[in-house]
Amino acid sequence: MTATTLKFLLLGSDGQVGRELQRTLGILGEVIPTTLSGGEGLRLDLLDTEAVTATVKQQRPDFIINAAAHTAVDKAETEVDLSRRLNADVPELLGQLASELGARVIHYSTDFVFPGDSDRPYREEDRPAPISVYGKTKLEGEQRLLASGADALVLRTSWVYGNYGHNFMLTMMRLFREKGQLSVVDDQIGAPTWSRMVAEATAQIVHKLPTLTPDTPSPYGIYHLTAAGETSWYGFASSILELMGESCTIQPVPTRDYPTPAKRPAYSVLDNSKLKQRFGLQLPDWRVSLQQCIADRAS
Ligand SMILES: NC(=O)c1ccc[n+]([C@@H]2O[C@H](COP(=O)([O-])OP(=O)(O)OC[C@H]3O[C@@H](n4cnc5c(N)ncnc54)[C@H](OP(=O)(O)O)[C@@H]3O)[C@@H](O)[C@H]2O)c1
Repeated sequence: MTATTLKFLLLGSDGQVGRELQRTLGILGEVIPTTLSGGEGLRLDLLDTEAVTATVKQQRPDFIINAAAHTAVDKAETEVDLSRRLNADVPELLGQLASELGARVIHYSTDFVFPGDSDRPYREEDRPAPISVYGKTKLEGEQRLLASGADALVLRTSWVYGNYGHNFMLTMMRLFREKGQLSVVDDQIGAPTWSRMVAEATAQIVHKLPTLTPDTPSPYGIYHLTAAGETSWYGFASSILELMGESCTIQPVPTRDYPTPAKRPAYSVLDNSKLKQRFGLQLPDWRVSLQQCIADRAS
């Protein structure tokens, strides 16, 4: 199998990571994008088990890339069933289909599988204990996919932002224009990660997979894949403001002053050493990526 013959079935191709994957995977082979609306690519509702099964069997991809999810962390607290179906049932189904057809799966998960009580970056082998419905359903999805028997990679990322879709960076940019003053929480610590970096790293992993098998231990399983460094939402917002050259006063506030339906981990920095050891990949510091992302808007 050469890199040019690879076929990727990309689920959630309209999302933040999905959009970037269309380009990065396109360099390695043929990408079949699928979206809920069918905008660009195939229309595929992942809640429709029969349609998913038929599409996978018809397309017979080398890789199923699942960038779709129920990512609305607060809504998930009340949309528990929908969250479980998308975040847990779907990855299991994809794993079963991949296993049957000999395809491989790349699936994304989250720092929110951890409770946030660590005093050092979380490693893949640390015990997850999610504190939100989103985190619980994403963890269930990881476990059910890995139990399916498929050759699957679970890439846990965090605090994803980019120039498309809904994310903290774009919300801040809008609020800087609309308001003179903002309050942002400064006691949740994580690593903001540019969607493009996730997509570029994914393509590099795919590219390196054949060189890792079959002589090396199985490359499949869970990997942490985030930007290096750490900050608070307040620190992230302050950097966006500075790079945009906007004028707005940002007030640091504790989480208790900004109640939300879902609880978030106070500390969810992920240790990326395993990704570096197995695939030789190291994502840049979050500040470097943020600068590149903002520069990319202007170009
Ligand atoms: N965003 C973050 O901060 C973050 C942090 C850590 C991990 N992650 C993980 O990274 C991955 C990518 O996240 P993202 O931020 O790129 O997500 P996103 O922008 O919210 O995109 C998710 C996509 O899933 C699609 N989708 C939802 N329901 C669907 C259905 N029934 N059928 C088909 N597609 C459906 C959505 O389509 P519509 O737009 O049409 O609804 C959307 O395009 C996810 O696994 C997420 O859990 C994200």
